[in-house]
Amino acid sequence: MHESVNQNAVFRDTAGCWRFSSPRATNSDMSFSNIMDSNSYSPDHPVDPVTGSMIAARDHMLGPAYRLFYDEPVHLVRGQGTRLYDVDGACFLDAYNNVACVGHCHPRVVEAASRQLATLNTHTRYLHRGILDYSERLLTTLPDAVNHVMYACTGSEVNDLALRVAEMHTGAKGVVITTDAYHGNTATTTAISPSIGGPTAAGPHVRVVAPPDSYRIPAGELATRFAADVNAAIADLQSAGFGLSAFFVDTIFSSDGIYPDPSVLAPTVDAVHRAGGVFIADEVQPGFARTGDAMWGFSRHAVLPDIVTMGKPMGNGLPIAAMAAQAGVLEAFATEVPYFNTFGGNPVTMAAAAAVLDVIEDEGLMDNAAVVGGLLRAELTGMTEGHPRIGEVRGAGLYIGVEVITDAGAPDRAGAKALVNAMRERNVLISVCGHDGSVLKIRPPLVFSRSDVEWFCTEFAAALASAF
Ligand SMILES: Cc1ncc(COP(=O)(O)O)c(C=O)c1O
Repeated sequence: MHESVNQNAVFRDTAGCWRFSSPRATNSDMSFSNIMDSNSYSPDHPVDPVTGSMIAARDHMLGPAYRLFYDEPVHLVRGQGTRLYDVDGACFLDAYNNVACVGHCHPRVVEAASRQLATLNTHTRYLHRGILDYSERLLTTLPDAVNHVMYACTGSEVNDLALRVAEMHTGAKGVVITTDAYHGNTATTTAISPSIGGPTAAGPHVRVVAPPDSYRIPAGELATRFAADVNAAIADLQSAGFGLSAFFVDTIFSSDGIYPDPSVLAPTVDAVHRAGGVFIADEVQPGFARTGDAMWGFSRHAVLPDIVTMGKPMGNGLPIAAMAAQAGVLEAFATEVPYFNTFGGNPVTMAAAAAVLDVIEDEGLMDNAAVVGGLLRAELTGMTEGHPRIGEVRGAGLYIGVEVITDAGAPDRAGAKALVNAMRERNVLISVCGHDGSVLKIRPPLVFSRSDVEWFCTEFAAALASAF
């Protein structure tokens, strides 16, 4: 057993509260995970006794793999729209959570899921209209060629399924991903998620390419460089005997640092198809109207995916995810392997997912993402113009990245973390992403309003002044 686990031994004090027997392991004792640790609570940060007790209880029962956000973790008990409330009643502005895409506890989603839960909740081996009605609606949002859809509960599961489908279609195993990709937590998806770090680095059948870093690479070179890197990776997979199964990419490059340039993917997808591979668009992050100009991130690049995966915002918090595919790509898998997923696509999650689509349409949330996201980007750009520690504000719709740099122009992990925690102290929730944890990740529910932008920018100006 790793020594740090022993160091984390906890006990109950006479009042029944969990306490650490000191010293507790700090994050530096554990292997660093870019995606999990760039904004994680570290035990060397002092917290109040009640918070400390809850953290100790978590460690005691959940073990040391879990991470909390922020130097001072947040204990939430309630949410509504873009607002979250902590145990003391303090109100936070949520500028981070894409899962609650139509807003926390949206009444139409709550009502639809509750009504279905009180009526029937079974699985997909019985006939039910809910899955058919939803599938019909979902498929109309996708290109005509992407005409089958299968359901699971998480993004990891559908990405795992997509890998199996691609492998059976191509007869090859090699996968090309980006340097800081995150595609999930199953065995096969951790092998294509190097941002998790530690011993679960990319598998031997995986090649990584640098993301299209629009801050450091001239716009005119982004697409050609990216395609050249992918071509080199494909050649390497072929000479290593793996062949090319899939080019697997998050179409907003969120864990890599948020790179929204829509010219990037087309030449690469052509190259992938020429090499006999499939293009898997992971829409878990940009999907469901977040980018403001399209329902799906790949549409912004004008490319046709062979497989599309989606999850997170699909049920506004209920566990529902999907893999849509072209019939010809799915065929080898679907004719050989029966599919069953106990919870995936059940009537309750289908009802919630249908309500999410209703709200996106009825409340005009794609337009809202475009307009309010554009306003937020413009305000942040104006406010940080010429600031020596902010390199760039970029994004699409309500997916926004802010590049934090040192005085010498290098990625500034510590500066980004300081800003995130300064915002948290001011009750505004954001996080970080990117290879160096130096890009602020601003990704609020799609119901973010103009007054939320005002609130956000007031606090951001103050946080900027306090951090640098
Ligand atoms: C791009 C991307 N793909 C897949 C996943 C995995 O989804 P889940 O956590 O629902 O398994 C995530 C989760 O953060 C993600 O960001």
